[in-house]
Amino acid sequence: MSAGLTLIPLENVDPALVDALLDRAFEPERKQRTAYKVREGTDWLPGLSFAAIDAEEHLVGTIQCWPVALNTPDGKAVPMIMVGPVAVLPEYQGLGYGQALMSAAIASLSPEAPLPQVMIGDPEYYGRFWGFSNVGTTGWQLPGPFEQHRLLVRCDNPAVLPREGTLGPWRR
Ligand SMILES: CC(C)(COP(=O)(O)OP(=O)(O)OC[C@H]1O[C@@H](n2cnc3c(N)ncnc32)[C@H](O)[C@@H]1OP(=O)(O)O)[C@@H](O)C(=O)NCCC(=O)NCCS
Repeated sequence: MSAGLTLIPLENVDPALVDALLDRAFEPERKQRTAYKVREGTDWLPGLSFAAIDAEEHLVGTIQCWPVALNTPDGKAVPMIMVGPVAVLPEYQGLGYGQALMSAAIASLSPEAPLPQVMIGDPEYYGRFWGFSNVGTTGWQLPGPFEQHRLLVRCDNPAVLPREGTLGPWRR
């Protein structure tokens, strides 16, 4: 990780700055993405969401995690944590900030009861560093278009994951 980088809780950052950063890291239509529909109506989880600040205290990256559920055909809602977006400003990419943000979120999961973590992303990146895989998600659906091979899950015991279901917001 680059010298001078600090990670702080995302709740300490002005939401308008986070929005501006996401606008720069993603395409302008980012809010049409299926990931936004999966977590619609939920709030990101403060204990699992972080910001990366450089030595001059500029916001350079963020990660947010959300409460979601896999709704199975037999009517169960299996709670999971949706990871993302993880975003680093273009001029700061490739310096290890993305890895630092992801590792901070993963390290903050409860070791006693870690929920499965899901995300939509490149299996090469998220598999290589954190063991995310698309193997268990072939029977899963999302509420919008998506590439099946980019739907990833990370779980201590993949055998407990339902084979089929649709991801959506966690509803109390
Ligand atoms: C994806 C992203 C968060 C990675 O953060 P980053 O700080 O640039 O990445 P890091 O510096 O931690 O990691 C760099 C390493 O990961 C690899 N890597 C980065 N993104 C990758 C990707 N999408 N697929 C495969 N490998 C990737 C790099 O090749 C590099 O490998 P190397 O060290 O062997 O050269 C960042 O590029 C980004 O914000 N992209 C735009 C938004 C986005 O697409 N987010 C992901 C979907 S939610």
